Amino acid sequence: MFADVSADTLNLDRGEVSKKITSRTKAIIAVDYAGHPAALDELGELAETRGALLIEDACHALGAEFQGKRVGGIADMTVFSFHR
Ligand SMILES: Cc1ncc(COP(=O)(O)O)c(C=O)c1O
Repeated sequence: MFADVSADTLNLDRGEVSKKITSRTKAIIAVDYAGHPAALDELGELAETRGALLIEDACHALGAEFQGKRVGGIADMTVFSFHR
């Protein structure tokens, strides 16, 4: 199931995810689009309250920070790419 992004950031929109999430949802997968981390706090909280994991695709955001923490240490699982 897909949820829409926010028009401001082009990152996954927490409100849209909350409309789509069900008891069968195992994970929320968010991309850090164009170097900007997704709303990892809101999405992580939503995932936790619904018994799901937050998986972050940080391929665009190697070295980026969210609220003073480096991506890779925030979500339950983070994916990076080292392609060139
Ligand atoms: C956001 C995002 N996720 C995943 C990938 C896939 O990375 P890889 O080519 O290392 O499989 C890319 C590649 O461009 C990407 O932009």
